[in-house]
Order: sequence, then structure tokens, then C-alpha cells
Amino acid sequence: MRSLPVVCALSVAMAIGLAFSPGARAAAGPGAASPVQQPVAAGTGGAVASMDPDASQAGIDVLERGGNAIDAAVATASALGVTIPFVAGPGGGGFMVIYLARSHQVVTIDGRETCPAACTPAMFTDPRTGQPLNYTAASDQPLATGVPSMVATWAKAISLYGHESLAADLRPAIAVARRGFRVNADFQQLTESDLPELQAYPASRALLLTPAGNPLPVGYLLRNPDLARTYELLGRYGPSYLYDGPLGQAVVAADDHPVLTPGQTVVTRPGIMTMSDLRAYQARVLPPTHVRYRGLDIYSMAPPSSSGSTVGEALNILSGYNLSAEPRATALFHYLEASRLSYADRNAYVGDPRYVSVPLAGLLSPAFAATRRCLIGSQALASPAAPGDPHPPYAACPSQTSAPAPASEGGHTNNIVTVDKWGNIVAYTNTINFFGGSGETVPGYGFLLNNEMTDFDFTPPSAGAYDPNLPADGKQPRSSMGPVIALAGGKPVFSVGAAGGSTIITTILQIIVNHVDFGMSMPAALAAPRVSQTNSATSLAEPDFYDSPLAQQLASQFGEKFSLATGPILPLDNYPGDATALQILGGGRDEAIAEPVRLGGGSALVVHPSR
Ligand code: DON
Repeated sequence: MRSLPVVCALSVAMAIGLAFSPGARAAAGPGAASPVQQPVAAGTGGAVASMDPDASQAGIDVLERGGNAIDAAVATASALGVTIPFVAGPGGGGFMVIYLARSHQVVTIDGRETCPAACTPAMFTDPRTGQPLNYTAASDQPLATGVPSMVATWAKAISLYGHESLAADLRPAIAVARRGFRVNADFQQLTESDLPELQAYPASRALLLTPAGNPLPVGYLLRNPDLARTYELLGRYGPSYLYDGPLGQAVVAADDHPVLTPGQTVVTRPGIMTMSDLRAYQARVLPPTHVRYRGLDIYSMAPPSSSGSTVGEALNILSGYNLSAEPRATALFHYLEASRLSYADRNAYVGDPRYVSVPLAGLLSPAFAATRRCLIGSQALASPAAPGDPHPPYAACPSQTSAPAPASEGGHTNNIVTVDKWGNIVAYTNTINFFGGSGETVPGYGFLLNNEMTDFDFTPPSAGAYDPNLPADGKQPRSSMGPVIALAGGKPVFSVGAAGGSTIITTILQIIVNHVDFGMSMPAALAAPRVSQTNSATSLAEPDFYDSPLAQQLASQFGEKFSLATGPILPLDNYPGDATALQILGGGRDEAIAEPVRLGGGSALVVHPSR
């Protein structure tokens, strides 16, 4: 992703039937209308929330045909790969948190990309200087592409917990890809943000740009017959078409020997993937993380995701305060400091647990949280705060020191929630990392490849220091993705997940605090202005928070510092990212909740709407 100084108004009207043919994969024409876009929907029979109306409708179609929440999640995710290919699709990966109604059990699927066998701890350093490569430039390279794991995740989820087949669940996405959808202002600004990388590849230009290499105009009917065919082939032959077949060969060729636009200067480091890397990929069922918070059981994603451990640790810290009784500024001060300290521990300890020892039990222990809470006084701690020691026995109240600054993180993703009439729930955060991933479309197959491997740290925090998140052969980079499912008395009550890189964790945390402690409805909790503290010198604040009296009070009374979240991708760039949520209303009724405004608003749908 490149940030360009272009801001697109979100209210641009759709213009229909444009007169030129921008590329082989796009065409002007009538096309089917998308479902009405609404951020909140309540009713029975099942529900879906995602970033996009066509994607949510794909999930609803599957629910109506008898599919369950797992099928609906796959249908929604695969359709999102068509309509918002910059944040989704078969070239990426993600994490599913699933509530199984019959067994009253929460399970998760780790569908994170792996680093190819040729990966080394120094792969993102300059061999001449030993210095880390520029983060953004490295993220633009095929070298940053990990083994695409999305399809393995879908297949695993369906085979273990779905009602339908992969072929059936991909059908709505195939229909959208064939009939096309209208480019909107958000699609256009996402294209804009990745323009130099997309221009570098003829296959990306042909699919996503005009012949002159510009973003497609708003209102353009974009079809993706290549991706429709890809999904058909995956439906017919199963995931082995990717992991041990022709699609895999095309992915490896694209990654290692990219076909480039003559004269482009963006792409300098080809990939290092082999068919063996693809053959070795396995999506894995993992137990969820669990903490108790205000009588709720909060389940989320275990490492290599850092969401479950970090949200969990912060909630454990916050359990020691009666936030609902505190003045709002005091409660938010506690929220920011709990985030800061949890982030210090995340950065120090979380990596791929198959490669490094992650002290997960300690990170989730209330006794460890007490050793962190005691550091919070009446003034904001200095960042970067040092990590604690999550190995028992825990020290009474260790003194606080500072630590090296954490590495860069960025990009974008999406969260989907689905529920079915049987009460199964899926919360699924998935991504190709940066907007547009690496920028490379697999020629002939119609999807973008991820650039997830720059979620690894490029170098340790200091020479020779321990770092759980350095690249290695087959290793998964640490992620912030990981939605939550909350139960009360053994029954699910809500689910929430978010996009936004390292702000995913604070967004989830803030929404939980808004809802559980501040008593906001879930739609209000999600819409409220965000502020994100990730152990950085300032907390990233959306304008409505930045300009609020609360922010002023947090600064004057508690010494908190804020930076304004703003940028060319309005209302998202540098923003705590957009979220989706689900509330179980009881009596078979559910409420699906998407963003009302961020990134043009998301889409919530139910099978049978009722008030
Ligand atoms: O796994 C992660 O944490 C990121 N690669 C997810 C992508 C993302 O959200 C970055 N976003 N802003």
C-alpha cells in the first residue's frame, strides 16, 4: 500500500453504464442491483454482518438454502474476495472463532499464512548493511507473500462443522463475480491507495485499473470471470487444486517469477515459495483463549494471533476497576493504560508457538494482570513501557522501565460475523494484509496475493535480543486478528471483531468496554469514536475523540497524549479500523451490526427481519 494525497468523497453518487472498456476483466452493462446497505439488522433465521452488501447477501443466500453459520462465513468471505479484493480473497489468510451450538463449545481455526521454507530471520534485512528494509517497500514485494491459507481454512471449517460443500458455499461468490458489481467510492479509494503496486503488474492492471492505469470510475460494472472460474475449479477439485495442483503452480510462478509492467520500479524482490510450501500447509483447529470479565466468558484467538492474549490481559487488568462507576475520563484512562501494558507484553512474548515458547497461561492469568495493574497510578505511563514477567511466581509490584520501540505494523483486513437458526456463530477476521496485499494478481485466476510476511519483525529490538516474531522456515507471523465470542451463563451473548492491524485489539477492547461497562447498545458501542493505545508515545484518536472534552481531560488530568487519526483513506487510513458485531437477543432473534460510517459503512442482514 502507498498513501497518496487523494481524498475521495464518500457520498459520490453511482454513475451507471460508462462508455469505455477499461480492461479485459471489466465491462459496462446493467448488472444486478446490490442489496440495500444498512448497518444494523435484527430478526430470526440467521444473520450476517460484513463490510459489503453483496458479501453479506452471499451469506444470507447460503443460510436460506439450509447452510449453517460456517457455510455462511465461507460464502461471505469468498464473495468479499470479489467485491473488496483489496482486503479479502483466496490469496490471504485469517482466523475463525466458532461457537458450536450443539456441543456448547467454542473452537477456533488458525488459518494464518506460513513463511516459505526458504525464509530466514534476516530475510527482511539489507545483506550489505544488516539494517532492516524499509517496511512499506518490503511489503510491496512478492518476497512478502506467505503461503495463501484462506482456502485451506474454508475447507477445514466446512469439513468439520459445515452443512454444505465448498462448491455450494462458493456459489454466491461465483454469481457475483460473473454478473459483476458497481465500483463505489470506497473501492476507488482502496485502488488509489495501492496504485503503484497494481500498476506494476499487467494482471492487476487488467483486472482492477483502466487501460491508462487509473482507478476504475465510480459506477463501473466490474466483473471477474477469472475468479469465478477459480472458485469453480476449487469447488470441483477441492483445495488440492491450490495446495497440490495447477492453481498452486500459478501462485508459485507469480510469486517467484512475477510478470511485471516494463519500466516499473516498485517490485525488486521476487518471492521464494515452492510447491512443497503449499503442500505442507495445514489449517489447524486450536483451543480458544479464555478470560472471565464481569461475569462473561470471553473467548478469542490463541497465538500466533495476539488478539486473545492481549484483549484477555487488558480485560484482566480492567477487572480490578469498577469502570461503570468511575468518571468517564478515569475509566478511559484505565482503558488506555491497560492497553499500553498489555501491548508491551504482546510485543515481547507472542509469536508462533510452534517455534517459540509463548507464556500464554501467564499472559491470561489474573495474578499476572495484577502485577501490571499495580503500575497504573494517576498519570499515563511512558511508552514504550517495558514488558512484565508472565512466568510465575509473580513479583508483588515490579518497578516499571522503558523498552525499545516496537516494529511497524499496518495494512488492512475485514471481520465477518454469522449466526444461523441453530445458534452456531462464526466470527472470522481475514485479510491479504495491506490494502491490495502485495499488489500482484495471479495471472488468469483473478485474485491478489497477500503480503502478510511483513507482520514478522525485521530485526530484534536490539542486536542479539530475544524476539519471538522473527521470520523462519514454515513459521507464521504474529497477528492482531482475532475476534471475540462472549458467553454468559454458558450461552452466547455477543461477538465482535475488527479490522485495522494493530488497532484490531484496541477496537475490540474498546467496544467491549463501551458495551459491558458503559452500557452502550452494541450499535452505539461500535459507532462510538475510537482511541487506540498500542504502547506508543501517543494514542491514535479518531477526530470525534481527539476533539472531545474527554480527550482534553485525559490530557490535562492524566497526562495522556493523542495523535489525530487521519489520512487519505477517509474515514479509515490511520484509523482504528472498522468492526462488525453480533448480539444474541434471545428467542431466536439476533442483531447483526456493521459500521454506520467508517469506510462507507458496512452491511448487516438477517434472514427474516423483525423489529
Ligand atoms: O495479521 C495482522 O494483524 C495484519 N496482517 C492484519 C491485516 C490488518 O488488519 C492490517 N490492518 N490494518
